[in-house]
Amino acid sequence: MQKIHIVSNRLPFSIKEDGENITLEASVGGLATGMKSIYKDYGGTWIGWPGIDSDTISNDKMEAIDNLFIEEKCASVHLNSEEIHLFYEGFSNRTIWPLFHYFTQFADFNQEDWETYKAVNQKFADAAIETMDDGDAVWVHDYQLLLVPEMIKSKKPNVTIGFFLHIPFPSYEVFRMLPWRKEIIKGMLGADLIGFHTYDYERHFFSCVRRLFGYEISFNQIHIEERIIIADSFPMGIDYEKFLKSAQEVGMKSITEKSELHKELDKYFLSSPDRKLILSIDRLDYTKGIPNRLKAFARFLEKYPEFRQKVTLIMLAVPSRGQVDHYQQLKKEVDELVGQINGAYGSINYTPIWYFYRSLPFNNLIELYSSCDVALITPVRDGMNLVAKEYVASRINNTGALILSEMAGVAKEMGEALLINPVDDEEMADCIHQALTMPVDEQKSRMSFMKERIQRYDVFKWANEFIKSLKKAESIQTDFL
Ligand code: UDP
Ligand code: G6P
Repeated sequence: MQKIHIVSNRLPFSIKEDGENITLEASVGGLATGMKSIYKDYGGTWIGWPGIDSDTISNDKMEAIDNLFIEEKCASVHLNSEEIHLFYEGFSNRTIWPLFHYFTQFADFNQEDWETYKAVNQKFADAAIETMDDGDAVWVHDYQLLLVPEMIKSKKPNVTIGFFLHIPFPSYEVFRMLPWRKEIIKGMLGADLIGFHTYDYERHFFSCVRRLFGYEISFNQIHIEERIIIADSFPMGIDYEKFLKSAQEVGMKSITEKSELHKELDKYFLSSPDRKLILSIDRLDYTKGIPNRLKAFARFLEKYPEFRQKVTLIMLAVPSRGQVDHYQQLKKEVDELVGQINGAYGSINYTPIWYFYRSLPFNNLIELYSSCDVALITPVRDGMNLVAKEYVASRINNTGALILSEMAGVAKEMGEALLINPVDDEEMADCIHQALTMPVDEQKSRMSFMKERIQRYDVFKWANEFIKSLKKAESIQTDFL
């Protein structure tokens, strides 16, 4: 294996336009933030979509954008407005995303979206094939590109292909609803190694392979005529040292070096010594359980009135997939709920929820992670959730409490968090109370266990384990032939 190329829909950088000036800024989302720390180590190119509509960009501008990406070892796959509508907003985010997160009532099954999904997957596969030299391997990522492994394998049978799914793989009972279920599995089986965040997702995948195709599966190997495919679980980690170091630096900053946000946070704590902050960070996505979380916070203020005026929820909701109707409805619902709660419990000098609908630069994220006493992370369904790991890594003195949904993949590694059912408002409200009153010794004990685990299995270890298994998959295949 010489170089390893990465293929994903979203590149690790997005375009930032300021008048005529175009620059790149970090993309949001677990795939991009996690893989960004490692992809340059593999000597290959990251192939993906720059996040813009090629129909609206002049050729000169597009060339300038492509060049910016080339400097970052990335190659752009251009998508026009129809492809964005039918492939990205359509099949990827109106069919696969809701279905795989068990939001079956949100899933559309549209033939035109499917046809475009196939065509765009072929475009990514062709771009990967064009980039590869003999002996290179390719690592394909996520639900937008489920057909790419087979599309590469059929043209380049000797290329070693890894595939990693960053979202849940659902149970057969849900997966079977997809009219193109067999094509999707066949697409994934083009890979030599298929990775999932948790064993449950892997087990669901095996069950679909067995029921739809009847292939023999022994341990974690799938036997198909003249090929053996390995599937395994690799819980994705974070760049632990980067978060720890940045949090240490934030702690050492003098008043003049502090950001405006940090000064505001300091001011909040100084105004009264018993003030506390709860943190919530996600893309504005219906899988993240934001309305339930807000209702639970309101229930907490109602049930424990002694905490009114003393506890503030900082809610960072990053704009995401705004052209998709369910995301637009969610935005409306969240805006209304925040308004109602702030109206009901706020006063002239107390705002219960500080709501930011935007993304924040890395340094501000670290300031939030280090300043907030509690992280409230309550998705109704989440493949992994890296924010939970980032909060833990940033707690330099091991204080703080993590309230975590049992429906997030990360819950499997965070037994010491306060685990909750994300639709149970009453339980969540009580858990907020428990977190805010938790003795410091208990906070430190829980936090240090979680920290040790995410330090040991960081994003570098995660990627190395995947690549090690990919090499094993390659050699099994060679021995088999
Ligand atoms: N994030 C970011 N900017 C923000 C808010 C969040 O870059 O303003 C990052 C965050 O640090 C994390 C990622 O976005 O690495 C979110 O990943 P996660 O796995 O929690 O959820 P996803 O968005 O992938 O569903
Ligand atoms: C999740 C998905 C990623 C996706 C990210 C952001 O993390 O697993 O594949 O890139 O969300 O979503 P977006 O639609 O903006 O790429």
